[in-house]
Amino acid sequence: MPLTSTGAREGSGVSRRGFVGLLGAGAASVGIGTVGAAPVAAAESATSAALPPPSSPGYWKAVERLFVLDKKVLFMNVGTVGSPPREVLDTVDRVHREVAVKATSSYSDFADVRAVAARGYGCDPDEVVITHNTSDGMSKILAGLALKEGDELLTTNHEHSGGNVPLALARDRYGVVVKRVALPVGNDQRAEDYVDLFRRAITSRTKALVFSAPTYKTGTMLPIAMLARLAQDHGLISVVDGAHIPGMMAYDFHELGVDFLAGSAAKWQCGPGGTGVLYIRNKVLPRHNPNPLPEFWPVVSSGYPAEGGLPPRSSGPTASYDIAATLQSVGNSSLAIMSGVRNVCEVWDRIGRARIQDHVLQLSAYAKDLIAERWGVRALYSPKDDPRLVCGLTSFAPFRDPRDVHDAKKTETLVARLKDEYGIVIRTSDFPVAGSAKAHQAVRISTHLFHQEEDVKRVVDALWRLSRTMS
Ligand SMILES: Cc1ncc(COP(=O)(O)O)c(C=O)c1O
Repeated sequence: MPLTSTGAREGSGVSRRGFVGLLGAGAASVGIGTVGAAPVAAAESATSAALPPPSSPGYWKAVERLFVLDKKVLFMNVGTVGSPPREVLDTVDRVHREVAVKATSSYSDFADVRAVAARGYGCDPDEVVITHNTSDGMSKILAGLALKEGDELLTTNHEHSGGNVPLALARDRYGVVVKRVALPVGNDQRAEDYVDLFRRAITSRTKALVFSAPTYKTGTMLPIAMLARLAQDHGLISVVDGAHIPGMMAYDFHELGVDFLAGSAAKWQCGPGGTGVLYIRNKVLPRHNPNPLPEFWPVVSSGYPAEGGLPPRSSGPTASYDIAATLQSVGNSSLAIMSGVRNVCEVWDRIGRARIQDHVLQLSAYAKDLIAERWGVRALYSPKDDPRLVCGLTSFAPFRDPRDVHDAKKTETLVARLKDEYGIVIRTSDFPVAGSAKAHQAVRISTHLFHQEEDVKRVVDALWRLSRTMS
């Protein structure tokens, strides 16, 4: 569910003057007009605090100018990695230097940063951990669940190794069974179809549903809230690989009703490299997730008490302890990086997470329409018409000859030539498709807040021209 708030409340909700008071995150970077010692042009010194009104025609161009992305390249692979806004880079640089000058150590649970992040993700600070990335979050979730031999973890055949590897570890360590539903692809699916698939695969041994939303291969946004409800109805744990959710979708994590969600803070959220967001439901959500909290161990922690253990997890609407703090506390951490995460969350809240989601989805819909017009809707692996299944990723088969759909080399060449000849960066994607013995090869485009309609047109035009010459 999108958040309705545009969240432009700099500093609100964070009264603690912890390390951020010392190092000042977003507020202190506002107005910085230099990067290092080099003076920068006026337009380039703009910060999110100085954006024009959202209704003004140049609004999204002004948003684009917040970023330092190379102007000679059209970067459309945010699904792999994002790029921090200039003011976030300034914050990280500055704090890094201040820490070096004072040799400041940081043994902290970063409650300030988690409070700002939680505000944007529709959950509470005791439910958000800033991790290293999605893979780190998925590993912490799956290693922390109390699993035993014979338990079944129900997942899909389109998962990323960030989820597949900890699943494989659980299989080999505990003897759990990893079962996969085969995801149908393309525009003919409806959200209910995916829920039915999972429902039919649940058995008396199923312990958890573990799925990516969206899948990185086809950009299919599996219906998280519906699947979470399915899990609740069967007393199962829900684990979402939401690598692409933070910064792209304005989801309210409580509204989703899931137990765990691991995401990246460095892809669509455009935080510093090597950052992620991990959500752990830490209280009973009466309407959306009335189930008790799953047993969960903070396997990587220096906040775990050496004696006595942690109190039992909450069985009601009030958390019994701050599980996120227990996971966040792991030795000395980077104040600079954590300040950058806080700052980028403030930038997103200032622009408005729902506004960003709308922009991303509008551009994505435009890309899908243009592709359907040129190649035909059957070329799309991403859903287009069910609004519950769409996101900012668009995957499609770029060649006319159906045999080329299995030609990995040709697809890679297309993507390489797109970069070399047109200066546009996208990526390839490959995945099993039901009824096909061989994997399908696709190209994947990401549309984000620093893109405009003309960028979408440009990438589709270039792919059309190049793919024709290669046919
Ligand atoms: C669905 C999915 N899960 C996990 C990952 C791994 O992400 P990270 O680099 O944040 O660990 C990715 C990366 O593209 C992804 O698409």
